[in-house]
Amino acid sequence: MLFAILLALVPFALAAPTPDMSTSSSCPVSSIEVPIIPGIERAAGEQTIFSTVGRGVQNYTCTAGKWLSAGALADLYDMSCMSTVLSPLFNINQTSTAIAFGALQAIPFPATDPSLVKFDHFFVRTAAGGIAPAFRDSRVGIEVVGSLISRADSPAGNVTTIPWLHLTAASGMLSKGVFRTHTIGGQAPPSCAAEGRSLSVPYTAMYYFTA
Ligand SMILES: *[C@@H]1O[C@H](CO)[C@@H](O)[C@H](O)[C@H]1NC(C)=O
Ligand SMILES: *[C@@H]1O[C@H](CO)[C@@H](O)[C@H](O)[C@H]1NC(C)=O
Ligand SMILES: *[C@@H]1O[C@H](CO)[C@@H](O)[C@H](O)[C@H]1NC(C)=O
Repeated sequence: MLFAILLALVPFALAAPTPDMSTSSSCPVSSIEVPIIPGIERAAGEQTIFSTVGRGVQNYTCTAGKWLSAGALADLYDMSCMSTVLSPLFNINQTSTAIAFGALQAIPFPATDPSLVKFDHFFVRTAAGGIAPAFRDSRVGIEVVGSLISRADSPAGNVTTIPWLHLTAASGMLSKGVFRTHTIGGQAPPSCAAEGRSLSVPYTAMYYFTA
């Protein structure tokens, strides 16, 4: 029943007007505490500015028998208003990621209607030759490149599910922090045989942006 209600609300949440991406949500999203689990901490005074649900793929390359992370690509949908309105009823985090994994599968990935997407998630090359996670509001160009502070296995385990993460801004003005929580899927198999092969594993997660 609740699932059906939430499902009915999804199109409205996705289409919620967000006139100026450089400002925080019009809903009182700062009242939403970023959910954490042991191993992931909030910084003192860190406040939520956007609550989003991401849907995409985690990429891997087969390197010496192991699937090594080769970045990710995801569309992030704004859940800020839905979170503030519906959180007294149930845990919006868990439900929205489940919805993303189910109902949002009907929306093409990558999204064919970019106006529905709040932030693009992708990876950039670092000066040191590695890769780093980036998030960009494609309409106003504001972005943040994250640097890992902490990670913790999901309460659902680590066999098929990628960890929860806390990133801090290495550069960019979009946010001070990014948390990846309530992950579903995205994990690579434990080993691989075909050296150099690529693999993309679908996943969903909540992403909280903080200031
Ligand atoms: C991840 O793989 C997808 C194809 O599944 C590709 O479109 C995307 O560019 C890749 N992103 C990265 C960072 O490797
Ligand atoms: C998100 O989940 C955490 C527990 O995992 C809960 O404490 C928090 O209130 C939830 N947030 C919302 C908006 O429901
Ligand atoms: C999953 O957790 C186990 C036990 O902590 C650990 O040994 C293993 O390396 C983890 N696997 C991944 C892919 O993180």
